[in-house]
Parts: sequence; C-alpha cells; structure tokens
Amino acid sequence: MSALKVSVLVDSDWASGSLVDDVRRGLGTHPLRLPPKWLYDDEGSRLFDEITRLPGYYPTEAERRILLDHAADIVAASDATTVVELGSGTSDKTRTLLDAFASAGRLQRFVPVDVSEQTLRDAAAMLADRYPGLAVEAVVGDFTLHLGHLPLNQPGQTRLVAFLGGTIGNLYVEERAAFLGALADTLEPGDWLLLGTDLVKPVDRLVAAYHDPGGVTEAFVRNSLAVLNRQLGADFDPGAYSYVPFWDGHLERMDLRLRADSPQHVTIPGADLTLDLAAGEEIQVEISTKFRPTGIRAELDAAGFETVELFTDPAGDFGLTLARLR
Ligand code: SAH
Ligand code: AVI
Repeated sequence: MSALKVSVLVDSDWASGSLVDDVRRGLGTHPLRLPPKWLYDDEGSRLFDEITRLPGYYPTEAERRILLDHAADIVAASDATTVVELGSGTSDKTRTLLDAFASAGRLQRFVPVDVSEQTLRDAAAMLADRYPGLAVEAVVGDFTLHLGHLPLNQPGQTRLVAFLGGTIGNLYVEERAAFLGALADTLEPGDWLLLGTDLVKPVDRLVAAYHDPGGVTEAFVRNSLAVLNRQLGADFDPGAYSYVPFWDGHLERMDLRLRADSPQHVTIPGADLTLDLAAGEEIQVEISTKFRPTGIRAELDAAGFETVELFTDPAGDFGLTLARLR
C-alpha cells in the first residue's frame, strides 16, 4: 500500500509574510531585485514546465540523460533509504532515480519539497500511485527556510537530498553558501547530496536557452509582476517593461531583467511601498548561474561536502554531482 502525507509549512496564503519582506528588501533598495521563488505560482509553474520542453532549453534533457545513464551508479554508490527532493516541481526526471532505487529494493521514503503547492500535490499523488510501498511525505515549504523540518534518519540509515535542474544557480553566491551551510547543519555525516548544476558554455547557446522565439521564458519572467499585482495589490503594468536577458561573463550567470520602457510609478499597498522607475531602469527578476567543475567542488567543500563523483551528459552541458557530508 502506498502512503501519501502532505505537510504545509508555508502560509496557506503563501505569499503573505515572506513575500512582503522580500519585496521590501528587494524593491526597497537598488538594484531592484526579486527572489526567484515568487516566480512559481500556478501560472509560473505551468510556464516553467513549458520551458523544459523548448528546443533551446537544453538543461532538462541533459540532466535526464545523466540520470538515465548513471542512476544505477548513484544508487550503487549511496546507501540511502530516504530520498528528499528540494524544489521538486513535477519530479518528472526524478522518477528515473526513484526507479533505480526501487529496483535495488532500498527506497522506503520520498520527501518532495516545493513552494508551489498544487504542482507538488499533483506530483506527490502521481508518485504515491507509481510506487506502492513507498511512503511519500510531501512538504509544501521553502528550502531557504524550512530545512530543519526535514524528516530525520532512522538509526543506521542515510538520506540522499536531490537538488536538481540547476535551481541552486538561481541563488546569489552568498545565498548558495548559506543554503549549503544550512543543509549541512540539517544532515548527518554520511548523508548524500545529488546536486544538478548547469555548466558554463558558449554564450550563444546560453542566451538562446533564455530567449526563446515564442516568448515563453519572457512570459515566465513577466509573470513575477502579475504575482505582485495579485498578492500585494500592486499596480505594475506588465506590458510597460521589455524583457532583457543577457550573459554576465564576469559573474558567469544569465541575468534576466525587466526594463521600464517609460517612467513608471508603481504602488504596492500590501508591502506599503511605492516605486518610481525611470525610463530604462531595470528589475533583476532572476539570475541563473553556470558553473565549472572546480567551482562546484569548492563550494561543496566549503560547506563540508566531499565530492564523490561528477557525472556529465555526453555533450558536457550539465553536471550532476554526488557528494557526501563529511
Ligand atoms: N526540480 C525540477 C523543477 C525546477 S524549477 C526540475 O529539475 O525540473 C524550480 C522549482 O523550485 C520550482 O518547482 C519552484 O516552485 C521551486 N522553488 C523555487 N524556490 C523555492 C524555495 N525557496 N523553496 C522551495 N521550492 C522552491
Ligand atoms: C529552475 N531554474 C534552474 C531555471 C533556470 O534555468 O535557471 C529557471 C528558468 N528561468 C528561465 N528559464 C528557466
């Protein structure tokens, strides 16, 4: 019998408390910024799913290829009986990993964690159906705030935390260090981390991945303003901004911005904030950092994780690192 449990750690009105803080912090000072988790309301999650099927958006298929080629190696290397997935979304690629764990007869519990409640509930129900005998314990939570609520190890057992898709690259460098540090604090020595990271590559392919001709990525980024309008009563005119994606070669990250085409006066009553943007002023909605193998290893090492293996797809586009907490 499969067992499904869903715990909700964010406000049912998910945008209330921390959105206000994030908006005050991000839009109350320069440069104007928004944390990426607010991109994933139901519409944002739907648009991201569409992005993963765009021909130019290579990360999803590259990571799927790695999982297809190496899931058995990952299972053989790790002794985990619980898999936690952070920012799990639809958990689509994760099934390859869970299949490998299940066929080794070792998986007892799967814990998907995401802020996007409906997407998570749908995915968890699908997984509970697919894996009878597996305890699916979904957590509607924020992986920057709620790591302390993850289920503990049973004596003598270990957990594997999967953080796929390159989502770690959506965090700023200091946020990545804080996140990895908090994760290390939560885990026990011997627990595993499986970390997906997009890799540095020629600029034309990177820009093409974030500037599709059909405008799906643009709609995904622009949807952030609709979230603020709906949740905080803001009066952003999403059509008054141009989408500006560019490669920052110094910081090695894609930088996805919205630029005001004309002066904008915006009120955000829910955050008690007004905003005056000059023509040409930009809001940094999302970054997507690309990594090099030495950098991944160094960031993991600084947080206490030892890299066991870095798997890549045959084209070398994407990296999946298996690491273990020292
Ligand atoms: N892992 C999936 C989805 C990646 S999209 C894949 O590889 O395709 C990023 C996911 O992370 C979204 O589902 C989004 O809702 C979730 N997310 C973003 N910020 C989050 C946060 N702070 N806490 C929990 N989930 C978050
Ligand atoms: C979820 N994350 C890894 C995606 C990325 O590629 O940085 C989000 C995304 N933004 C625009 N396209 C995809």
